Amino acid sequence: MNQNIKEIISQMTLEEKISLCSGEGFWHTKAVERLGVEKIMVSDGPHGLRKQKGKADNLGIYNSVNATCFPTASCLASTWDTEAVGEIGKAIGEECQAEGVSVILGPGVNIKRTPLCGRNFEYFSEDPYLASHLAASYIKGVQSQGVGTSIKHFAVNNQEYRRMAIDAVADERTLREIYLAAFEYAIKEGKPWTIMAAYNRVNGDYCTQNHWLLTKVLREEWGYEGLVVSDWGAVDERAKALKAGLDLEMPSSNGFGENQIRRALQNGEITEEDLDKAVERVLELVFKGLENKKKNATYDKEKHHELAKKVAREGIVLLKNQDNILPLKKEGTIAIIGEFAKNPRFEGGGSSHVNPTKIDIAFDEIAKITENKANLLYARGYKLDSTDTDNYLINQAIDIAKQSDVAVIFAGLPEIYESEGYDRKDLSMPKSHNILIEEIAKVNKNVVVVLMNGAPIEMPWVDKVKGIFECYLGGQAVSGAIAEILFGLYSPCGKLPETFPLKLSHTPAYLNYPGDGKKVEYKEGVFVGYRYYDTKGIDVLFPFGYGLSYTNFEYSDIKVDKKEIKDTETVKVSVKVKNTGSIAGKEIIQLYVRDIESSVQRPLKELKGFKKVYLAPDEETEVSFELDKRAFAYYNEYIKDWFVETGDFEIMIGKSSKDIVLSETIKVISTTPIKKVFDRNSTIAELMDDPKGKEILNIMWENMKKNAIFSAFQGVDMGIALTFMKEMPLRGLVMFGAGHFTEEMMNEMINKLNE
Ligand code: BGC
Repeated sequence: MNQNIKEIISQMTLEEKISLCSGEGFWHTKAVERLGVEKIMVSDGPHGLRKQKGKADNLGIYNSVNATCFPTASCLASTWDTEAVGEIGKAIGEECQAEGVSVILGPGVNIKRTPLCGRNFEYFSEDPYLASHLAASYIKGVQSQGVGTSIKHFAVNNQEYRRMAIDAVADERTLREIYLAAFEYAIKEGKPWTIMAAYNRVNGDYCTQNHWLLTKVLREEWGYEGLVVSDWGAVDERAKALKAGLDLEMPSSNGFGENQIRRALQNGEITEEDLDKAVERVLELVFKGLENKKKNATYDKEKHHELAKKVAREGIVLLKNQDNILPLKKEGTIAIIGEFAKNPRFEGGGSSHVNPTKIDIAFDEIAKITENKANLLYARGYKLDSTDTDNYLINQAIDIAKQSDVAVIFAGLPEIYESEGYDRKDLSMPKSHNILIEEIAKVNKNVVVVLMNGAPIEMPWVDKVKGIFECYLGGQAVSGAIAEILFGLYSPCGKLPETFPLKLSHTPAYLNYPGDGKKVEYKEGVFVGYRYYDTKGIDVLFPFGYGLSYTNFEYSDIKVDKKEIKDTETVKVSVKVKNTGSIAGKEIIQLYVRDIESSVQRPLKELKGFKKVYLAPDEETEVSFELDKRAFAYYNEYIKDWFVETGDFEIMIGKSSKDIVLSETIKVISTTPIKKVFDRNSTIAELMDDPKGKEILNIMWENMKKNAIFSAFQGVDMGIALTFMKEMPLRGLVMFGAGHFTEEMMNEMINKLNE
């Protein structure tokens, strides 16, 4: 412990210590002026600063200072670009410094278990590897500026429905491989100053008072040394939370939490030592914040806007480009249709709502790029404040589409459709948007749809249009970025960080969401997103990792530097990628691993590496990955650790999860022998799988044949006989053995097997 902090704690009264464990108002820690402890300010997050000066709330209702609204995590994730996400983090850190904010409440890394979660736009992916690697970059970026982060919402907060009370029930393997894994790497690598404990419960206990989560896993196993803060209003029993490892309750509970701590100290439920631990972490955070404050810090609004545009450009995903309709030419008549072209949707509702410094308008940006070379027409097409179709607006749009060479329709989900605080009911866009697209496609063969939405939608018109862009909620500059890509100033280079299913009933959690109001059971286990669709062979609209480019990339020469490794060693995988098209572009190379044969159910493939590269026409590069034990392991609940089952693994290089272009096989040998323990319920099959068991069975077989009762087995092949008996437990042999195989004999055999 820092000497100064030790000193301060030794001088504190019990009341002062208690007071530090909860916030002041909505956004500050408490001060202890007598001892020179000042307060620091925290603010939302994650994709820009939401610093409130006046009235405060955690739902994005009251206003906040102007700040750059960067692309939301939905769009950041589709960049698959750790560097770009790091740059955004750095810029957010600068804005925090300029506003005197010491901790930004983000990133959000919860797994997109169902596309219906209202907050999916704030989260990265359905895949923990992608989510945690991007989050680590974000954290490092922000913290490089002397501003802390708060990775959230720890953990298993995957729906808004009953988010403040629901019990997420999942087995440990599922938690470790999917839901905790999204946090694990980000926390170990990024070392966030704080971690925000979620509203919900996990396997019975509220996250804020879940000792297993906050102390056993987070601190003892992952070695986390920072502070744990509650989500806003997430504490139920303050003393229990303190004991479990929750240091700071936010916001102020107006003395409620403090009373509970006081009482618990009096009746011995917690000790002053427990309290000191939390106080120490609060003080460490406060001093870190104060020491890192940069006086007179400012930032360049224009530069940050440009950065927001650059990264949005990286995240826009081209989903369809029939007949190479894209990029568009700056000529002829172009119909720009849809209110989003003039009034874009670029961020989501709730606590992440940023008050932008400026907003790019697609129509204006297109006009700038086409420089009067093309004749631009505009029609609103639908209203933002109503989801009903408006025939007058549709007819206007049809009218201009008829006169145009190409129609670009801006559509998606209006703000009311997705927000913190509630989930979506289905995957539909408003009827008004869908009908508009269908009607325009009837009168114009060249339709391009530009989507602005935070999560997957159904596209009933997918076959009727030639071009589709998914922009997600791309921040205040997304419209500038889309204009540039539409006209080929840049080639699109985003790929989907989640699956777009064909329909809701295909989604993995469909039968087990949203639960019964009290609990939601994660019965699909580790089979989330593409892990589910691929393993079950379910067709999807667009797969995980998918995205087109205006150029082409060819892959060749996959190499592994070893064909066999121990699980304590690493293997290097390399592959060559060449831009074979005529324009420059970026490609995202994805590496997936499959356990070819496994004694537990495992997904058909899992993402274990990705890289984004820029290539000029004809340029070729070699990309390499290093895989360690975790790339091959699953979480074994019996040994309570990551475990690699000895055997062959396929290493696949893909353009998407569905488009695997090259693969190699290597053998990985486990260095963690799992000792098999036999008991009376072990089966003949289990004995057959074990060398010692097999030997014992051989001897037994010979003895059995000598007994009159088993004389029927004379001349029968042991293999055939045992096939029929393989599910028989050892106790069954005693039962059918008619005294020839006794309980004592069985026990002796079990002892021998377990030696
Ligand atoms: C949200 C958090 C947010 C906090 C403060 C809560 O309702 O879940 O993500 O950081 O409010 O606004």
